[in-house]
Amino acid sequence: MFSILPQPKEYKINQGFFRLDGFGVFGFTSPEIIEDCKTFCKKCNLLEKPTVNCILESEIKGYTLDIEDGITIKGDSAQSIFYGLQSLKQLVLHNLKDEILLPCLHVSDYPSYSYRSYMLDVVRHFYPIENLYKIIDILALFKINVFHFHLTDDQGWRVEIEKYPRLTEISAFRKQTNGDNTPHGGFYTKQQLRDFVNYAKSKFIEVIPEFDMPGHFTAVLSAYPHLGCTGEKVEVEERFGIFDTIACGGNEEVYTFVYDVLKEMAEIFPSPFFHIGGDEASKRRWAVCPKCLEKVKAEGLEGVEQLQGFFTKKVTEMLASLGKTPIVWNESLNSGMLDKSVIVQYWNDGKKALNVKKAAREGQGFIMSPCPPFYLDYPSGMHSIKKIYNFEKEELSTSPNLLGFETPLWTEHIANWEKIQKHTFPRVLATAQLGWGKQEDFSSFKNRVLQALSILDFYEIIHESKKDFLPNPLRAIKHFFSFSSNFLKGNTLENLKRAIETDKEMRRARGEKR
Ligand code: ACM
Ligand code: ZN
Repeated sequence: MFSILPQPKEYKINQGFFRLDGFGVFGFTSPEIIEDCKTFCKKCNLLEKPTVNCILESEIKGYTLDIEDGITIKGDSAQSIFYGLQSLKQLVLHNLKDEILLPCLHVSDYPSYSYRSYMLDVVRHFYPIENLYKIIDILALFKINVFHFHLTDDQGWRVEIEKYPRLTEISAFRKQTNGDNTPHGGFYTKQQLRDFVNYAKSKFIEVIPEFDMPGHFTAVLSAYPHLGCTGEKVEVEERFGIFDTIACGGNEEVYTFVYDVLKEMAEIFPSPFFHIGGDEASKRRWAVCPKCLEKVKAEGLEGVEQLQGFFTKKVTEMLASLGKTPIVWNESLNSGMLDKSVIVQYWNDGKKALNVKKAAREGQGFIMSPCPPFYLDYPSGMHSIKKIYNFEKEELSTSPNLLGFETPLWTEHIANWEKIQKHTFPRVLATAQLGWGKQEDFSSFKNRVLQALSILDFYEIIHESKKDFLPNPLRAIKHFFSFSSNFLKGNTLENLKRAIETDKEMRRARGEKR
């Protein structure tokens, strides 16, 4: 059986089969690749045996995989060889029987985009680090290369920072969630994070942390209230939605705090990229804060929207000094002041995505993750794998500045690990394919996904069944109602009202008429 996801750029199946009687690499390898093979042998009960000849060859693009009398993988880098190996592992998994017969073939393959990402929000619901390792294994098997780690938000702070211990003593825990009388929280130690980052790196996945600012800052303010505009003591947020709490843009202590935290986080996460959020930052507090208004005046800014521009510029400079390029959610474009070096993540920019299009036209690198349909917290009946796979936005989809794709999983309403898996799998495979390059229509891709389900089963991943991830209209309606009732249960009218008001504010900031 032949099926590889993402679909390779070119392949030719030849006559005959190769009988595999063991698995392992020789030639150009690395400790990470050898370890990957060893784990695979254990999982599949295969004899460890050097079978696959790996050759580093700079002339080829990506990797080639040849199965004839033997197996050869050539690659232009260790990463490409790793990808060749993942393709081979998929072939083995599809043909795993007492006698493993692999079709003779030639594959020539490389990714179209450099950014193939999955985001997990561990703030709204916290999950132990151990759970995340398995996600990394599966993402790697399908050649996803970024794990975007949403670590800070109103409802919690999840990373140990030595200089500010109250972030883990206070900000990491909330007393309850929407009145459920159940405390919730947790954080990762630096050592846990370093180990996790190293593990992901061994699978050629970069972990990109997110420290969301200046909005989504309530958890920080619960521990360090003097960093807010009002100085008032707040609790770690127990509700969901969007809030007025914000880091004061006119207080120099905020910039010191941000730099200190970035510096410690930069040491944990060696990726050259760092996500600094920038989404849904309501300017209501800034508009009446003497310090913020003073800063607007002193810097000759047009108003508080530009104060976010100033804030982002300062943080961009801090990150540059730490050797990092920032990634921001698309609201950071609204001030018109964003440096061209900053990468924009497109999630919600009005129907026409005017700001993102303008930025892309002017050379700004960007990532595609619009909601709808890329957000995995919505059920398949609303954000289906087909909608993700078929998503196209004029100008953006063909832009040379498109760096890749991400499917984010926010966890306000995803309160257990089984649901995390079902919301992730198999829909995240659409990102894997889009990021690698789309070459076939949805019905062919769908068959590839259906075949990949057996791999997910083999790894004991709890994924959505076919009837749920490819729902008929009736089932899609059921998904919609179940999502809506969950959403209404988890939200008060007050939360919804606030979210609507802030959404209006964001529309105005984007320059939309309505
Ligand atoms: C976002 O969903 N607020 C980026
Ligand atoms: Zn202020």
